[in-house]
This record gives sequence, C-alpha cells and structure tokens, in this order.
Amino acid sequence: MEKKACLYEGKAKQIYKTDKDDVLWISYKDDATAFNGEKKETLRGKGRLNNEISSLIFSQLARQGVKSHFIERLSETEQLVRKVSIIPVEVVVRNVAAGSLVKRLGFSRGQQFSEPIVEFYYKDDELGDPLMNDAHIKAMGLASENDVQLMKEKALAVNDHLITMFEKIGVQLIDFKLEFGKDSAGQVLLADEISPDTCRLWDKQTGESLDKDLFRFQQGDLQEGYETILTRLGGQA
Ligand code: TMP
Ligand code: ASP
Repeated sequence: MEKKACLYEGKAKQIYKTDKDDVLWISYKDDATAFNGEKKETLRGKGRLNNEISSLIFSQLARQGVKSHFIERLSETEQLVRKVSIIPVEVVVRNVAAGSLVKRLGFSRGQQFSEPIVEFYYKDDELGDPLMNDAHIKAMGLASENDVQLMKEKALAVNDHLITMFEKIGVQLIDFKLEFGKDSAGQVLLADEISPDTCRLWDKQTGESLDKDLFRFQQGDLQEGYETILTRLGGQA
C-alpha cells in the first residue's frame, strides 16, 4: 500500500489517500487539545499510545462481530482504514455521570445510571459541537431516522463489549464518544477511534482517571495513564 496526498489534518490525526480508492492511511499525532482546541499541547508518545490502543480495541470488537472502518495497524503511529463518509454526529454513551453532564444538568459526578444514556452532538467546531436530538438530525438531513436508530443500537452494543473489556483489566467505563460513517455501499460503519482521548476510564481500585481528563483538568500525567491502559490491554508500553 502506498501513502499518497494528505486529505485532511484534524486536531489529533492526519488522513492520507492511498493507491486504493476505498482505503485511507491515518497517522496519529502527538497533539492533545481540549475545550474545542482552546487548550493545546504536544505530548510525546501520545500518537503511538492512541494508535495502539484504538487498533487493539477495534480488533477486539471485530472478533465480537462489530464492524468498523479499521483494517490494520501499520506502524507505531499509523493504521489503514476503509474510506467512509463521516456522519457529522458524535454519539456519546454514558454509564456514570461525569464531564459536561455534571456541568449542564447538575448530576453528581460518579452517579451510576441504571440504563446507559445515549446523546448526540453536532460535529461542528464553529458551533462548539452542540447537543442535538433525533429530530434535529433529521431536519438537518445529516442522517435518516433508520441510520440514527442504527447508530444508537450499535453504540449500545459497543458499550456492552467495552464495559466487559475494561472490567477485565480493572477499569470502569464511565462514558465514551463514537463516530460513524457510510462506506460506498451505504453501510453504516463504526469509524474514527476508540482511545483514552474519546473515553472516560477510571481505575477501579483508586478511582483515578486514565484518560484525557488528565490533560483537560491537569489531573496528572496523560502518557502514564494511557500507558496503563495499553499495557493492561496486552499492548507494549
Ligand atoms: P463530555 O462529558 O465532555 O460531554 O464528554 C463525553 C465523552 O465524550 C467523554 O468520554 C469524552 C468524549 N469526547 C470526545 O471524544 N470528544 C469531544 O470533543 C468531547 C467534548 C468529548
Ligand atoms: N476533542 C475536543 C478538542 O479537541 C474536546 C475534548 O476532547 O475535550 O478540543
């Protein structure tokens, strides 16, 4: 596979074309951003940690029948994915109250929900990724009712798999964000990444964050937290 022109550079990744029309080459960067890019730092090794963790998680999900854009890990910081057209809706699943939910609705941080809560956010940096509902998605023509239902079902299935995966390594899955895309056949596939950048992960023993909150709220060393997740998942520190 050959790496071709850069198609897009985001906050945490660069996306390149390849010599195959339906395959993209992703390179994970060492940049960390939070609060819609207001806080920004380069953290050595972060790209490798997220690439390795996301590759391990997508591979494990594939073995459990969850299809995603992930094809293979190429190097410490690179992976190949199937080309999809991203649906500009971030799907967040919450098992325990934290983050914006605590701020917005006054839940106590750490409150366990009896059922997971699914939320949608409009993926638009200029608007600051606002919360939206099914009717907004439909009215804006971002996805059909059927695709919204599919995303919700897939997100809840991923939640079940991830809860078990993390429980086995002594980590509680608090919440996470997913993105979906459509391939050329119109199939809705899980896309983007699943990593400590996009999940809240608390150590079961100590309650410590092992995710991007370490950076967002200066709670501790981000690389140390991400390394803990990688090694516990069976990867190389
Ligand atoms: P929130 O509590 O800040 O709304 O975040 C919910 C989850 O979504 C949390 O696991 C972090 C993740 N997330 C992203 O992956 N990207 C984002 O831009 C935001 C705001 C949250
Ligand atoms: N991903 C967002 C940013 O880069 C926000 C966040 O993760 O907190 O600014």
